[in-house]
Amino acid sequence: MQKRIAIIGAGPSGMAQLRAFESAREQGREIPEIVCFEKQSDWGGQWNFNWRTGIDAHGEPVHSSMYRNLWSNGPKEALEFAEYTFDEHFGRPISSYPPRAVLWDYINGRAEKSDVKKHVRFSTAVRWVQYNAETETFTVTVEDLVTRTTESSEFDNVIVGSGHFSFPNVPDFAGIETFPGTLRHAHDFRGAESLADKDVLLIGASYSAEDIGVQAYKMGARSVTLSYRSRPMGFDWPEDITEVPLLERFDGSVAHFVDGTSKRFDAVILCTGYLHHYPYLPSDLSLDSPNNVYPDTLYRGVVSEANNKLFYLGAQDQWFTFNMFDAQAWYVRDVILGDATLPDAAAQRADIDRWLARFHALESAAAEVRFQADYIRDLIEQSDYPMFDLDEVVRIFLEWKKDKQENILTYRDAVYPSVMTGTMGAVHHTPWLQELDDSADRYLAHPKTDVIKVIVDGRNLPSNV
Ligand SMILES: Cc1cc2nc3c(=O)[nH]c(=O)nc-3n(C[C@H](O)[C@H](O)[C@H](O)COP(=O)(O)OP(=O)(O)OC[C@H]3O[C@@H](n4cnc5c(N)ncnc54)[C@H](O)[C@@H]3O)c2cc1C
Ligand SMILES: NC(=O)c1ccc[n+]([C@@H]2O[C@H](COP(=O)([O-])OP(=O)(O)OC[C@H]3O[C@@H](n4cnc5c(N)ncnc54)[C@H](OP(=O)(O)O)[C@@H]3O)[C@@H](O)[C@H]2O)c1
Repeated sequence: MQKRIAIIGAGPSGMAQLRAFESAREQGREIPEIVCFEKQSDWGGQWNFNWRTGIDAHGEPVHSSMYRNLWSNGPKEALEFAEYTFDEHFGRPISSYPPRAVLWDYINGRAEKSDVKKHVRFSTAVRWVQYNAETETFTVTVEDLVTRTTESSEFDNVIVGSGHFSFPNVPDFAGIETFPGTLRHAHDFRGAESLADKDVLLIGASYSAEDIGVQAYKMGARSVTLSYRSRPMGFDWPEDITEVPLLERFDGSVAHFVDGTSKRFDAVILCTGYLHHYPYLPSDLSLDSPNNVYPDTLYRGVVSEANNKLFYLGAQDQWFTFNMFDAQAWYVRDVILGDATLPDAAAQRADIDRWLARFHALESAAAEVRFQADYIRDLIEQSDYPMFDLDEVVRIFLEWKKDKQENILTYRDAVYPSVMTGTMGAVHHTPWLQELDDSADRYLAHPKTDVIKVIVDGRNLPSNV
């Protein structure tokens, strides 16, 4: 009987898995029957922007944590697919930090080209996955959100690609319940325009706090205060952005910090990260981990130790993204096709422990980037995914970190060469700080006059524009 595979989620990870199987089929291999369940009406996961917050049109929790004006926060050259390049997709060089819609277009382009949409059941939420030891299959129960019908069917393997930046981690702070201004988690942040002329407090010291802080600055916030728990980000912030230690309590609209300082705020955004949460899995199969680069209990970072027929994609904290998901998906495909064999449970544990020991000894962000590159190299060596120059990607990541240290407001104007094709990124027509239109049309246009800059500078537009 033909094997049946369920993929949960059609974000970049699930799409990588679809592409991996298609690539085997193109080489003449017989592939299993694949059904990818996606609760949204389109694919792209986080990159499929949703203006809604809280609950979607079907009463489901909104998945995406992205905001309108999000641009890639790492160089695109670090995430490029090894077998579908930016050159191939756009036909000309583009800049190194594209906006959200442009990256969606790129992942959509590869998946459309390989004709894998037919495997996806959109607007279908996975409700429950149950393993049956007798039949050695999973019963997957799903709900079609349009027809509101539920059904169950059997699968030989389940691949979890539902992401782990959707269920917000929401800490409590004394007095927060009577804070009179706007209060939300970064998951519900959709754009910084409403923060103009406001005093804004962001709690957290990682990517969300950094980028929402800079977005708020860009959109004219009066002041931005970043409150850290462990350590400050330490960038050379402009005058209106400051870092303070952890928030202790609110007294009305006044926040008091542990160093004894205080300030009044109009808006608070909790940039306190996300939880691994898999509500459709029983606890013995559900990954339970903090957000880190080597979650325990996953052999080679993808095979569930609890049940080797269950796989996780993209469960790591992410320096590398799209090409790491590819490396994982190609390996998972080969395990399922029988081209890669799994060692016994003791050997799997010993391998996980070796990687965990390395992970726990990491002392810097640079070491973490190298660690993740080594992890990907190990995976690619197991499959026919094209090996690429991972050391060059590490070099680009380290340059990126240096650029950010030099100027957190202009690092997105830098360009890098493609690791896959050598093509140098094109300098964007408008510096990021002045670019107020994040659409793909504007990004890919060749404006003769920088209309937005002229308006921002208060000059008159030429009559021919
Ligand atoms: C705010 C934010 C900004 C980011 N910016 C960048 C960036 O600039 N560059 C970068 O490389 N990465 C960035 N990332 C990282 C991002 O997580 C990855 O790029 C990528 O989207 C992860 O892909 P994924 O498929 O693993 O998960 P997701 O993109 O989260 O996709 C998971 C999919 O699973 C579906 N799903 C979930 N539950 C179910 C269910 N029960 N049934 C059916 N379907 C389900 C969801 O609808 C979704 O489509 C960002 C993440 C966030 C949160
Ligand atoms: N493209 C972009 O520009 C962009 C923008 C936003 C997010 N992202 C992506 O989104 C993902 C998630 O990033 P994230 O910043 O949301 O999460 P994160 O990287 O997991 O960071 C969570 C932050 O919250 C802090 N925190 C947690 N609990 C806290 C508490 N009780 N009190 C105070 N602080 C607390 C943590 O502090 P400790 O250090 O003390 O633990 C940490 O600084 C990343 O992959 C990132 O790349 C990208």
